[in-house]
Amino acid sequence: MSDLTAKVTKESSGSIVVDGYEALKYNFHYTSPVFDVNHSKLADIYERWQRVLIVIDSIVHPIYKDQVEKYFKHYNVAVTWKVINGGEINKTMDTMLDIVDAMDSFGIVRTEPTLVIGGGLVTDVAGYACASYRRTSNFIRVPTTLIGLIDASVSIKVGLNHKKLKNRLGAYHAPLHTFLDFSFLETLPVGQVRNGFAELVKIASVGDKAVWDLLVKHGKELVETGFGYKDGRDATRAPGKEICHRGIETMLELETPNLHELGLDRVIAFGHTWSPTLELTPRIPLRHGHAITIDMAYSITLALSRGLINEAQRDQWFELVSSVGLSMDHDLFDEELIAVATEAIKKTRDGKQRFAIPDGEFGKCVFLNDVPIEELQSVLRTHKQFVKERYGQGVGKEAYVDAGDLGANPEEYVKNGQKPTASHEDCCTASSLKRNGVNGNETKSAAVSAGAVPVDGTGHLTNGVTGTSIKA
Ligand SMILES: NC(=O)c1ccc[n+]([C@@H]2O[C@H](COP(=O)([O-])OP(=O)(O)OC[C@H]3O[C@@H](n4cnc5c(N)ncnc54)[C@H](O)[C@@H]3O)[C@@H](O)[C@H]2O)c1
Ligand SMILES: [Zn+2]
Repeated sequence: MSDLTAKVTKESSGSIVVDGYEALKYNFHYTSPVFDVNHSKLADIYERWQRVLIVIDSIVHPIYKDQVEKYFKHYNVAVTWKVINGGEINKTMDTMLDIVDAMDSFGIVRTEPTLVIGGGLVTDVAGYACASYRRTSNFIRVPTTLIGLIDASVSIKVGLNHKKLKNRLGAYHAPLHTFLDFSFLETLPVGQVRNGFAELVKIASVGDKAVWDLLVKHGKELVETGFGYKDGRDATRAPGKEICHRGIETMLELETPNLHELGLDRVIAFGHTWSPTLELTPRIPLRHGHAITIDMAYSITLALSRGLINEAQRDQWFELVSSVGLSMDHDLFDEELIAVATEAIKKTRDGKQRFAIPDGEFGKCVFLNDVPIEELQSVLRTHKQFVKERYGQGVGKEAYVDAGDLGANPEEYVKNGQKPTASHEDCCTASSLKRNGVNGNETKSAAVSAGAVPVDGTGHLTNGVTGTSIKA
């Protein structure tokens, strides 16, 4: 929620100047289980309305419906459901308008907060519906995936995909409250837990040494047990909780001074340099967490070759990600992709490389801007050799998107000649790509779809998927 303060003055020239600033306040609560009648915090907010419109993911709905209804019934709050299909292909304007229609039918009052429950996909689309509804309306988030808990719901970015372009429409719209309840991880498939774990590796490697040490000690067990919620052991949950809480707080400290992302040296760009292009290059896209881990692993090799870390640190890093089943390399992560993706990312970073990598120790970050392409390609050869000798192919477990991530069977979807958008674009690509693809795959559309602003030979923006021109 924000509040605007403004002053209007008339200058001697006759011009009128509005000088204003917006105060922003939004809250995070660690409440678990959030839908437990002993925890009234969420229900208290709805007491005055005695009703709540809940927008929820269609997989999450059947699992938690009874619990949520029981909770609100206890507080005499009537529930109206709006169930929406998850999956990246549903991150569309149609889904958003469907939510808007539900808000209209419900007759939501502008200050009355819509409650949004689900992963990053649902919170992004429903958050955007709330940002646009009557120019702005309130919402409350309850993230249910690890990505949602430690990443998507930490930011105030909301949005949706347009055509094949990732998060092309969106807003910065803070919810009133975000309730963080890690017990949702009990039902989250392990492949999704692993996917989110990669973002924790990111934040720890360059932002928080204490989290790094905890990940090294407990990482494997945490992924396998959904942070202790699948095995019901407090002994597993305790370090998991500390990791997530510190990870969230580090993210907030790093990113809130840069809420509108005007600063381009971003620590959390670690792992997000080559991955936006890599993620979409295989016939069936890589999961975001696997693509960023390959990018991070290569960056670690670069850090070693630059003398920024030592071999023992490199080995510790690779041991952790291999133990949890994340990917470290991919056949399509080749010299050509490195060249294409480096040029692409520079376009979103004001012409600079701004490669975020660990500096001396984990938890510290430095930005490189002076790495020649020959060095990048030579480091890639070293990287591939190292992964091959120690870990074989380097592709982790459940590395590719599934029907849950996509919203459709991936095989069927690509068979119909369709190509999904990237699952996430923290710091995405832009490019003027020369080649048509790697091994028959559409690297050009990969870079474009991931958020690119590609320019063809004529200077027009192009839709990389169909090749059609779009007016700039
Ligand atoms: N706003 C931001 O800053 C930001 C940051 C990161 C990611 N994102 C966005 O988030 C989206 C990805 O989010 P995600 O990884 O959470 O994926 P998601 O929302 O698609 O959820 C992944 C899968 O998990 C299922 N699921 C969710 N919670 C569950 C639970 N508790 N138990 C069982 N199944 C459950 C969903 O139905 C879905 O199949 C992308 O669209 C990305 O752009 C946004
Ligand atoms: Zn990411």
